[in-house]
This record gives sequence, C-alpha cells and structure tokens, in this order.
Amino acid sequence: MMTKVALAAATLLVGAAAVAGVVWSAADVDTVGRHRFEQELRIPPLLAPRTDAAGRKVFDLDLRSGRSELLPGTRTETWGVNGPHLGPTLRASRGDTVLMRVRNRLPEATTLHWHGMHLPAHADGSPHQPVAPGATWMPSWKIDQPAATLWYHPHPHDRTADHVYRGVAGLWILDDPQARMAELPERYGVDDIPLILQDKRLDDDGRLDFGQHAISPIGRLGDTVLVNGTHDPHLRVRHRRVRLRLLNASTARVYNVGFADDRDFTLVGTDSGLLERPERVRRIQLSVGERAELVVAVRPGERIVLRSHPPELGTDVFNNRFAGGADTLELLELRAAETLVEGPEPPARLADHERLDLAAARTRRFELSGSASINGRRMDMDRIDDVVALGSTEIWEVHNRAGIPHNFHVHDIHFRVLGEGGRRPPAHLRGWKDTVYVAPGETVRFAARFTDYADPRTPYMFHCHILEHEDRGMMGQFVVVQPGDEPEHLGDHP
Ligand code: C2O
Ligand code: CU
Ligand code: CU
Repeated sequence: MMTKVALAAATLLVGAAAVAGVVWSAADVDTVGRHRFEQELRIPPLLAPRTDAAGRKVFDLDLRSGRSELLPGTRTETWGVNGPHLGPTLRASRGDTVLMRVRNRLPEATTLHWHGMHLPAHADGSPHQPVAPGATWMPSWKIDQPAATLWYHPHPHDRTADHVYRGVAGLWILDDPQARMAELPERYGVDDIPLILQDKRLDDDGRLDFGQHAISPIGRLGDTVLVNGTHDPHLRVRHRRVRLRLLNASTARVYNVGFADDRDFTLVGTDSGLLERPERVRRIQLSVGERAELVVAVRPGERIVLRSHPPELGTDVFNNRFAGGADTLELLELRAAETLVEGPEPPARLADHERLDLAAARTRRFELSGSASINGRRMDMDRIDDVVALGSTEIWEVHNRAGIPHNFHVHDIHFRVLGEGGRRPPAHLRGWKDTVYVAPGETVRFAARFTDYADPRTPYMFHCHILEHEDRGMMGQFVVVQPGDEPEHLGDHP
C-alpha cells in the first residue's frame, strides 16, 4: 500500500520534473544555423513631405490594415502606415516646422506618438490624443533638437502592445546640418541602413499569435525575428563602411546586438543623438524602444552575420530564461561586394554635448515594483503624478524593486545617465538617451532639462517601455508648467 502511494508520488514528481524540464528547455530560442538569409532586406521607403503655403513640411500618414507576406508563402493580417505593414521613414532637419496628417483607417481608435521628439504635449500622440476611426489628427511643431534616430508608434491607453505588434511603427530621422562635425555614412538605404527589429509568433498559416506567455515575466517573446518586416534577410553591401541605425520595436524582447565573429564596431549614436566621441564595442544591448547607430567595416567579398547574443538582463536564472536571457537570434547577413567603395573612418569627435548644471537640480524618485505600477500606483488618465517647472533641470532616480526586467522612458526630453561613485557610465550610456534599461535591484539616475513647452492641462508620459507592462499600468503622467503654476484638472479629456 505504502509503496504504491510512494510510487505514485514518485511518478508524479518525475512527471512534474519532466514537464518543468520541457518548459525550461523550450523556453530558450536559438536560431543559429537555421537561417540561409534568402530574402533581400526591405528598406522602408523615405516619405517625401510636401511644403505648404506656410512653409511647413507636411507628412501624410494613413494608418490602415492589410495583408503581408511575413513568412514566405503565407499571408498575415497586419497593420501599417501608408502600406500594410510598418511605415515609411520620415526625415526632417532641425529648424523645420512639420505638420503631420494622421488619418486613421483602422477599425479602432489609436494614437501616433513621436518617440524621442521634443514637442508640445498636445502634439505628442499620447493616450490623450486619440484618433477615432475615420478621423484625421494634425499636430504641428518646430523641430529643435540634435540629429538623431527617433521613431513613431501608437500609444492608445491599454492597447499599445497590440497595435505595435500588428505592425504600426516607423523611423523618424532628424538631421542637424549646422552641428555637423564630420562625415558619417548617410546615403539612406545605400550605406546608411535602418534596421527595425521585431520578434513575432506566427502559426503555420502565418497568423499572428496574440497569446500571452504563461510564465514570461515580460510578455510575449517571438521565435521569429523580422528586420524591417523581412524574414531571414540579407543585405548587399557596396561600401567599406556602413552605418546601421538599430531600433528595438518589439513589445518585450531585449536584444544584445553584435556580430557572429565577434568583430568590434564603432558606436556613434544612442537614442537621442550622436555621441561626443565614437566608442569601439563588440555588443550593443537594446531594450524595447532604444536605438543605436553604429558603423561597421567590411572586407571585400565577405559575409558576416549580425546576431542578437544572449542579453545581460541581471535577473535570476529562472526569470532570465523566461525573459529571453538565454536566446540567440540571427538578425541579418551582410554580403560585401568584391570591390568596395572606400569611406573615411568615423571622426574622433562627433558632436558637442550641452552640459547640464546640476547645482540646483531637485531629485525625483520612481520605484518600479511588480509589473503594473510605478511608485505603487497604476496609470490613471485623470491623475497627474508629477509637476515639473519649465526651465528646471532635474535628476530622476529610477529603482527596480521587482525581480524582473524593466526599462524607463520619458516623453518630451532627452536625458544624460549619471555615472555612479565618480565613475563614467558604460559606453552605451554616455550619450543622450530617452529610454534606459533598469535591471532588477538596480538604480539608474539621469538628469534632464525641461524647456520650451509649458501646458498645465496636457501631460507627458513616463513609463516602462516593455509594452505589456505599460498596458497593465506601469506608466505615470507629468505636466510641465510655468514656475509656480498648478496643473489643471484632467477629468474632461476626450
Ligand atoms: Cu515609445 Cu510612451 O513611448
Ligand atoms: Cu515616447
Ligand atoms: Cu516593465
């Protein structure tokens, strides 16, 4: 009798262990050797703006649904801008005034947020500027910030992950001719290549899988990576030096980008602009929403593979595995021509950075705990969490109290990460940023100046950019006001 019970218990245990083992080993994704890089990398088209009578650059953006061949031979229902999937690359210069005409032909309300843009809050495309189906939204602002690789994506309350996952996202390239110090590769699609990274789960018929991962602490992790919407891509390279503009436009995944042969490359820019000096690195890690610009040198005739190596998430072994910390993903093969056009090495000095005076800076603290709140509060459209005085410089201190990965993004501004204990921050955090990874147990401090736009009625957002967390409520709102002003009540937003 006893032995039978013991046997049954033992069988159960072994069974549970086996299930756990299967879940465990199924959790990591390794696509090395599974790629032949057969498709030519798609390059999102540059959208040429028209100029209106007032001299504004007008960009026409139609949000629509359609069908796309994400996997060869299948059709996937997707959403996009001016096409069925993803959107065109927008480009403008410092000093330009832009007018965006955003028409929503999707079946539900959405917004379009200009991630990384310094602009008035009413033009931001946050959850407070919904565009109903059939409606057109027309924000306008003057571009006044350094050259950078920004992006745009929907930001509807509770629905951001879904809308981005369906495919609404694109790049915004800003130029600053006045501040140009030296030459970098800059022929779009020729030696200046955008790389939008997104992971998907697709079933055999090519349908997008919207299911949540039962165990993952960060949400849906796909086993198929698309670059600019291209599966299994290669890029023909005719120049010795190529600039790659990387964007992590996934919903949850962190990429640790480098080359399969571990060659080094030159990091020239981060989220909000060029670095002061180039940094030689072998890896650049990008959490959701982050960008990086790098320049890599190729040799005639060679083929090299850009890969996402296992990211360093700083979590325990269990969470690491289920947050994609053990995953290796092939991204793109670069195929160099036999004869290459020579180009100069990136210059020793790339940009001049404005110094922030921290003498009078006040410090604000943000605690990330669980996966749905900041400072213990969930996002509430009617609550202003923080009031910032126009013209002030502040230090924001973000502490991750949860055992799981988070990052932190702030609208409107760009910030400098502060080194701890007198040390300089690591290479990838030495430039201007608008989104930063915050590992479990870690505190990240950064400084920013809040300039130009005061509006007591319309808030900007700060949030974890892991979109499932953001949608669950890991987001807050701040207003920028004239010194001494109070925020106005928000209860009557549309
Ligand atoms: Cu990229 Cu609040 O967003
Ligand atoms: Cu943003
Ligand atoms: Cu998070």
